[in-house]
Amino acid sequence: MTSHDVTLEWADGSTQTVAVAENESVLDAAQRAGARLPYDCRKGTCITCVGRLLALEGEDAESAEGGSEQPPDPADVFTYRRSPAALTDQEQADGYVLLCVAHPQSDCRIEVGPRVRAEVGDSPWA
Ligand code: FES
Repeated sequence: MTSHDVTLEWADGSTQTVAVAENESVLDAAQRAGARLPYDCRKGTCITCVGRLLALEGEDAESAEGGSEQPPDPADVFTYRRSPAALTDQEQADGYVLLCVAHPQSDCRIEVGPRVRAEVGDSPWA
């Protein structure tokens, strides 16, 4: 079965790389690997599980954060098993991903944790 390595990065600098199977969400794979990520609805509607795509594997994460370059487009990296309804189109364009419903299509690095959650607005249904 195909899987992709997804490296989760927390604000304190810690990281964990998990192998995400093709039919698995990032959240499910992270939990299987013992990583603690926030979640609530698991349906793409509450925004609790949001992460931010930093880079595709092989790209320089620093240059992606430098501000002069656009972050990678999550639409190129993830398919969704349900609509990521809690994210606006702009938030998706800015790199935000709902990890409970996102299936990676390539190796990548994702920022996770409360800081990412604080960057986006509340769920439109909150
Ligand atoms: S857990 Fe609610 S949007 Fe992912």
